Amino acid sequence: MVGAPVGDVLVEADDLARRVQELGERISADYEGRDLFLVGVLKGAVFFLADLMRCLTVACELDFMAVSSYGSSTDSSGVVRILKDLDASIEGREVLIVEDIVDSGLTLSYLLRTLRARDPASLEVCALLTKPERRKVDLPIRYVGFEIPNRFAIGYGLDHAERYRNLPYVAALDGA
Ligand code: IMP
Ligand code: MG
Repeated sequence: MVGAPVGDVLVEADDLARRVQELGERISADYEGRDLFLVGVLKGAVFFLADLMRCLTVACELDFMAVSSYGSSTDSSGVVRILKDLDASIEGREVLIVEDIVDSGLTLSYLLRTLRARDPASLEVCALLTKPERRKVDLPIRYVGFEIPNRFAIGYGLDHAERYRNLPYVAALDGA
């Protein structure tokens, strides 16, 4: 392969840090006096989640889900399989789903339906990135870090074929 696979930087590391801090402050204010139950979606959200959680001043717990979408590597089909479910019950809990990126929205739409059926006291979403141009379903995303253009993003947890998660910034995959 000729040329660097990492293309244009979409979000610089210091902008990520500043925005994560802002989101943490907003979430802490919104949930003041309540116990928060964070649901991280593996694997991409791990980096964002770890940084976000350290900016929260409310009491919070953490659990993970892993889902896989049947579809090609760049297009999700909306048919989602749970690879790892939550360890704990979320009934009556204040649940906040933490996602890396919302693209078509099909994965998140499935997650929302599944988790809502478990009767949480509240269910909201915090996504670091969103690609509004690609959205196929309208979703209530309460907290969004950045809107990005329709390009395949890598870094800060986001992968392409499991690589580039370790980049400290978000970039476009070269040619994407
Ligand atoms: P959706 O169901 O189309 O919204 O896709 C959601 C999932 O696909 C995300 O949680 C990511 O894991 C993955 N994904 C979508 N767009 C990108 C991207 O630009 N870079 C890396 N992963 C992506
Ligand atoms: Mg994801």
